Amino acid sequence: MTDSRNAAWDTYARTKPQRRTTNSRGETTWFNWTQYPDHGPGVDVLRLRPGDRALDLGCGSGGNAAHLATLGVWVAGVDLSARQLAKARERWPDMDGWELHQGDALTYLRDTSTTFDAVYSVFGATWFTDPELLLPVLHTSLRPGGVCAFSQRPPVEGCYGCQASYIPRGPDEDPAVVRRWDFEPEEWTLILRDHGYVDVSASVITPPAGSRRTGTLLVRGVRGA
Ligand SMILES: C[S@@+](CC[C@H](N)C(=O)[O-])C[C@H]1O[C@@H](n2cnc3c(N)ncnc32)[C@H](O)[C@@H]1O
Repeated sequence: MTDSRNAAWDTYARTKPQRRTTNSRGETTWFNWTQYPDHGPGVDVLRLRPGDRALDLGCGSGGNAAHLATLGVWVAGVDLSARQLAKARERWPDMDGWELHQGDALTYLRDTSTTFDAVYSVFGATWFTDPELLLPVLHTSLRPGGVCAFSQRPPVEGCYGCQASYIPRGPDEDPAVVRRWDFEPEEWTLILRDHGYVDVSASVITPPAGSRRTGTLLVRGVRGA
């Protein structure tokens, strides 16, 4: 099913450049939770091993999922935007060990019978989906002990719950609007615990030294036994 969100995210895909071909360490794939290059924690957050299964909700042009696939993790990436997925396929045409699906994250989770060792989202569908709907089905799709982790911008102080997010279009057009969900780290902790996640952590990763921009909110929880 296509809705106005697909077009909005296709617009975003048009303006967003591809990820760099190598990072500062010369690696061709890497995992980045933040909006800054070469910054913040890496793939260890997910506690994955070769042969595990992971799900990327809102995988975009596929940089993080590609990295997991090169580590021997089987990964499914889901994204609303056909354009984003086309960029992923163009960049990694021969990638083994991943499947890319166009569609809505919530629908995918409701339909899948796969159990994942980790489900993650980097500035992706967990930010743009009502957590009261998403977190229960995400929990069900994790194996006991499996990790749920997602990153997004921290909230603007005082602006909590469902917020409008604007995606610029042409100079003569209003921006596209999508909905996102923002909470302080303490509130995310309570929300995840309420939905049965254990070992929950939520905190803001500070931006790179010297930056006057915002940090990155990283939320993580585990499906209990
Ligand atoms: C800001 S981009 C981030 C992409 C990628 N995770 C990254 O780190 O570059 C947000 C992505 O989430 C996708 N997205 C937003 N809502 C979604 C939903 N409900 N289901 C699937 N994908 C969604 C968009 O199409 C877009 O590609």
